[in-house]
Amino acid sequence: MVTSQYDHIWDCCCDHGFLGAALVAKKAAPCVHFVDLVPDLMDQLESKLKRYFPIVAGSDFASLSYSQWEVHCMDLCQLQLKEFKGKHLVIIAGVGGDLMSAMVEAITQNNATAEIDFLLCPVHHHYTLRQQLIALDLGLKAETLMIENRRYYEIILTAPKNNIGVSAMSPVGNTIWQCPNQDEFNLAFNYLNKTLAHYKRKQRKNGAEMQPIIDAYSAVTLQLC
Ligand SMILES: C[S@@+](CC[C@H](N)C(=O)[O-])C[C@H]1O[C@@H](n2cnc3c(N)ncnc32)[C@H](O)[C@@H]1O
Repeated sequence: MVTSQYDHIWDCCCDHGFLGAALVAKKAAPCVHFVDLVPDLMDQLESKLKRYFPIVAGSDFASLSYSQWEVHCMDLCQLQLKEFKGKHLVIIAGVGGDLMSAMVEAITQNNATAEIDFLLCPVHHHYTLRQQLIALDLGLKAETLMIENRRYYEIILTAPKNNIGVSAMSPVGNTIWQCPNQDEFNLAFNYLNKTLAHYKRKQRKNGAEMQPIIDAYSAVTLQLC
């Protein structure tokens, strides 16, 4: 999902920076930014990046075999993208969907004129996150479902809904339920059942507010395309 159209890729909540480092090595964009708010972690990461991907002063993108990079030890909600010209891909992975909703809201509101796509991989609370994306007028560029260590992940590429190639965002997902083969159908089937079981368990504690979510997931039709 990380195509070569971006000038800046932001690995937000980067932790040890594995994702961003892979993007630097792939030369995925002229500059890959690492953002996290833990100072020790970011100091260690910066030392490693200096060792493996030394910045060569004055070198341009074409002459390097990897991306330039920058490390930002900060709260990502404070990001000011106008200092960086061009198109941005902001990646946030590995935090809860409710926290991620607040992060995406803060970044969009603080950077109203910037051209930003978001690539999001939340831990739980997908419905809340998708509702927030809809409220922010963001639509769907691509989405996929994957499983690793028996955990399911939705990966959502989202952009302003008036952009070319962007369709309406569904609160429960759209193309993740349209499966190109039997393996992906089985994956989606198991994920859908697990998700419904989760919200039904929550309904026993939280009552009526879960009903619209259960109704929305119950209306999903899996397709083998
Ligand atoms: C579980 S790690 C996720 C690591 C990696 N992105 C992944 O998907 O495996 C969550 C990281 O988010 C960082 N984090 C949480 N809130 C943040 C914020 N507001 N700004 C920047 N980083 C934040 C934490 O310091 C932590 O390193």
